[in-house]
Amino acid sequence: MAKQKIQYHCTNCDYRPPKWIGCCPECSEWNSIVGTESAAATNPLSKHVGHATSMKSLSSIEITEQQRFVSTIHEWDRVLGGGIMPGSFLIITGDPGIGKSTLLLQVAHALAQHYRVFYFSSEESLEQVKTRAQRLHCDTSQLWFSDNAHLDTIIATAQAEKPDLIIIDSIQNCYASNIQTIPGSIGQLREAAFALMRLAKEHNIAVMVTGHITKEGTIAGPKMLEHMVDGVFYLQGEDRWQTRVLRSVKNRFGAINELGFFQMVHEGMQEVPNINKEVLEATTPSPGSVLISCIEGSRPILIELQALTIASKFGIPQRVVTGIDQKQVVLVASILEKYLRIPINTHDIFFKVSGGFKVKDSGCDLGIALALLSSYFQQALPEKTIALGEISLTGHIKPVNQVELHTKEAQQFGIAQFLLARKQKASNVQCKVTHFNTVYELLSLFPENTFK
Ligand code: TYD
Ligand code: MG
Repeated sequence: MAKQKIQYHCTNCDYRPPKWIGCCPECSEWNSIVGTESAAATNPLSKHVGHATSMKSLSSIEITEQQRFVSTIHEWDRVLGGGIMPGSFLIITGDPGIGKSTLLLQVAHALAQHYRVFYFSSEESLEQVKTRAQRLHCDTSQLWFSDNAHLDTIIATAQAEKPDLIIIDSIQNCYASNIQTIPGSIGQLREAAFALMRLAKEHNIAVMVTGHITKEGTIAGPKMLEHMVDGVFYLQGEDRWQTRVLRSVKNRFGAINELGFFQMVHEGMQEVPNINKEVLEATTPSPGSVLISCIEGSRPILIELQALTIASKFGIPQRVVTGIDQKQVVLVASILEKYLRIPINTHDIFFKVSGGFKVKDSGCDLGIALALLSSYFQQALPEKTIALGEISLTGHIKPVNQVELHTKEAQQFGIAQFLLARKQKASNVQCKVTHFNTVYELLSLFPENTFK
């Protein structure tokens, strides 16, 4: 008789160590490794024998044009890349209470007018969902709900009924009975992700799941979950505007970093279609404040940079920077110190990107320089002025990419002036443009020029 081999695996994450150990190196869980006797592992006959497959030329593959599921919620549709693609597997994640369930219920309601949508609410009871639906003034007659969290039941229901879209809120609460661990464990999530992906691809049913977030702000569960899905969307809070930002972090059917803005009001998530108008209206010209424009996904977003420079009281000046790489701010400050001979590097520098945005673009160098100078000279820039330019180490101001996209968007909201590099060509600008070649020329914007 063949000797039985003991195979070990972690009941939490399914990691397979060669021998028993007390703590799983994969998920750091204690006492989760168990051993099972396996004759199959030593039996050569049990080995899977593959069959040859026939290769296909790509030219023989027919592409059927798929109509996306377009809701009437435009901010949602845009972030999704123009609507939900049939047969796609998507995950939406965010902090608890941020509005995932509310937004998905509104989306389900909008789509239910034209498509069959099944909503599996594994976190809340059907009474809770109905209360929310009434609060959102949803017509509940066309929405189909279940509070079943059993993965096999969900899949069997979807295979039998063939809806266009299933929503599972949340994937962490689903469980498969063939996995011995609790719902939300890595093993369960892996199983759920595989099964749902197969459901989406084999039956052309779009699957949208919500996912929990870790303390660090990433999707809870194995990284593999993000690789497997077609799209990852984060719903994030944004304190200043009381808005919720939906951001595409991965999207096989659209642009990444596409942003959609919503406001949580008493009747659910309300779209904020003109965020740039709101940014502009809320910005008052003051020393240290500069408007820039950054492309997020496919559209330019107006962003206010704020700087505060003050002579340092200590030996080592402070650098407190949020929303942008500190090195970028320090580099621009050093360029200003070198070429304008102002002792800005001996000042404390406090710098922030207003509205909780994160800026990575090198095209905001000019904005950073102007914010620093404006605070340093204690003089505000003219009203409704946007700065766009990169600064080289030689102190020259360089053009940015896609400038016409920025200028087109900004002009819709009554921008009065653009500050651009001398070599920047922007044919669609109808308002005033001031060009700069080097950082020396920036001093002309601060005529009083008093050192603080
Ligand atoms: P919810 O969608 O349950 O968040 P998540 O699913 O991301 O955990 O949102 C819950 C919060 O939203 C809760 O604090 C109440 C608030 N809310 C409103 O302000 N207005 C509304 O119309 C609804 C439905 C919820
Ligand atoms: Mg929820």
